Amino acid sequence: MLKVEFKKIGIPEKQLYLTETTTDEKLKFNEVLIEVLFFPINPADLLLVEGKYGTASPTLPSLIGAECIAKVLKVGKKVKKVQPDDIVMPLTRDNWAEKLKVTEENLIRVNRSINLVQASMLKVNPATAYLILNNYIKLNQGDKILQNAANSGVGTYIIQLAKYYKIKTINIVRRKETLKELKKLGANKIILNNLKNNKIITNKVKLFIDAIGGPEVDKWASYLEDNGTIINYGLLSGKNIEINTNKVIFKNISLKGFWLSLWLQKMSYSQKFNLYSHLSELIMKNVLHTKIDQIYHVKDIKKAVLKARKYKRNGKIIVAFKKENIKKYI
Ligand SMILES: NC(=O)c1ccc[n+]([C@@H]2O[C@H](COP(=O)([O-])OP(=O)(O)OC[C@H]3O[C@@H](n4cnc5c(N)ncnc54)[C@H](OP(=O)(O)O)[C@@H]3O)[C@@H](O)[C@H]2O)c1
Repeated sequence: MLKVEFKKIGIPEKQLYLTETTTDEKLKFNEVLIEVLFFPINPADLLLVEGKYGTASPTLPSLIGAECIAKVLKVGKKVKKVQPDDIVMPLTRDNWAEKLKVTEENLIRVNRSINLVQASMLKVNPATAYLILNNYIKLNQGDKILQNAANSGVGTYIIQLAKYYKIKTINIVRRKETLKELKKLGANKIILNNLKNNKIITNKVKLFIDAIGGPEVDKWASYLEDNGTIINYGLLSGKNIEINTNKVIFKNISLKGFWLSLWLQKMSYSQKFNLYSHLSELIMKNVLHTKIDQIYHVKDIKKAVLKARKYKRNGKIIVAFKKENIKKYI
């Protein structure tokens, strides 16, 4: 069985390697043996190898992988939620392995006819976009929201969900090449980050969704209405958020952090099942979709990680354990 792991904290494409081990396929009564079909490389995976992720430092050597999509091979004696051949999304981490043993409470069954590459990204980014838009401030049809890193996986799900809810999005990106795609997805306004004059935002917004952090947060927070909210969910700049205290005191602007892991910890199994059933239906209806830059075979994990880490990509980087699965999706 192939698996990806790392022995040292450091540069992801240098530290991550593919290794082969045998799996003991004997299952406990509530366990399920699954075969991983596809996994995406997310910024959180890279942060973990760099030693910058929010979880405790991993015990080394460590497995990795925030999400994947898999097929059920075998179930333990008392398993009721899934059966062989079902398509499942594990709620556990460490998913970059060909085969995994997962308890049934940590598996979400998804419709077998879902696009498997899109489903490999179901756990993290669509749920992040959905929970941010639905749980922090009341947004009504016609309201405007502002977000940066708008061409990221999360950013494009925010655009698509907002369009579905009839909420307008003002989207900040750092590259001109992304404008056409985002317009096609339903972005109402797109702004290039490096423009000197950002007066193009005429009406103030209730919500600014930030994935970057750093000093620019203050600039974009100037477009918030009094009592407006910033939700920060990413640290792409690697810099601390800066915000002028005048905005916090005299305009009552508030800053909240979002971390999906904390949300999933406090949700019951049925809440998680309902959330992911809803999101997978939206994927199947083509309301939600993410662009794929390239699908790599796991043997090329270092190349795949390097491509993912360089950003300025044309979509997500996906990895497959079987070459024949790649052919089906390109
Ligand atoms: N808090 C949570 O629970 C949670 C959940 C999901 C994701 N996230 C975070 O959300 C962010 C986006 O994740 P994703 O999977 O959607 O990303 P992704 O699809 O892999 O795309 C990465 C995005 O980041 C942009 N970017 C990279 N470095 C940047 C920088 N220094 N300044 C400005 N933009 C930069 C890229 O722009 P270019 O295309 O121009 O390179 C691209 O838009 C990440 O920070 C991730 O860790 C957090």
